[in-house]
Amino acid sequence: MQIIRRLEELASALAGLRQTGEKIALVPTMGALHAGHIALIETARGQADRVVATIFVNPMQFGAGEDLTRYPRQETADAAMLEQAGCDLLWLPAVAGIYPDGFATRIHVSGLSERWEGAARPGHFDGVATVVAKLLLSVGPDVALFGDKDFQQLAVIRRMTADLGLGVAIVGVPTVRDADGLALSSRNAYLSADERKRAIALPDALDAARHAILSGEPVAEALAVARQSIADAGFSSIDYFALVDAGSLQPLDSSSGTMRLIAAATIGDTRLIDNIAVEMDASPER
Ligand code: PAF
Repeated sequence: MQIIRRLEELASALAGLRQTGEKIALVPTMGALHAGHIALIETARGQADRVVATIFVNPMQFGAGEDLTRYPRQETADAAMLEQAGCDLLWLPAVAGIYPDGFATRIHVSGLSERWEGAARPGHFDGVATVVAKLLLSVGPDVALFGDKDFQQLAVIRRMTADLGLGVAIVGVPTVRDADGLALSSRNAYLSADERKRAIALPDALDAARHAILSGEPVAEALAVARQSIADAGFSSIDYFALVDAGSLQPLDSSSGTMRLIAAATIGDTRLIDNIAVEMDASPER
């Protein structure tokens, strides 16, 4: 696997990689890689001839008081995992390579960015949309892959790439979970042993709410029970626990169409997000 840092090296590295007619996949990450990221690389290998990954802890998507400075960084271990998974090229841009002096552009995806994560983390999706657009424009992949775990992020990125005509296929990859159901996340590293045990209340509540809704229980009741069970497990605050339309992300107060349960809650100092599909005839995801 080739590793490059400078934007100036990217074009020639890509030229060396892209033989005529070959497809390139891009897997953007912020590092602190886990099996969920490796699933992105493996899916990418099935969809393209060459796989490029990026590791960039993007300051623009962190708000004041968020965990930018303590975000886990483990470049050597990450590079080894990517190489092992069959990644061809790793680009590790510096902040100044992505946001040179005088950088003044923000991409805002109206509508999809405002609620849920957007309300809890103002400006977050502008940072995501801006950096993903820069990475896509720099690498020029045929396909780019993102985890379903950040369901709203995926929707924002799909909208942004379609609106800007970036000509890249955006692929969502199912969430990878630990054996007990907790969605893998780089931020799980912040959890104490006790918080880690109690954190499964979040996926458990999503699962229970899905069953309740699919059994015809009133949505408001199913959501209230789910919120209570998370609070009982020791989560200190719940930013949202909602049933939404999977396309528009608008809240639903009764079952209709393709639905998603989405949630964000904090245990100790760690904010976790998760989501599951709610489909009448789908087999359970976990
Ligand atoms: O999901 C992430 O890791 C980040 O939000 C992304 C898409 C790499 C943009 O920084």
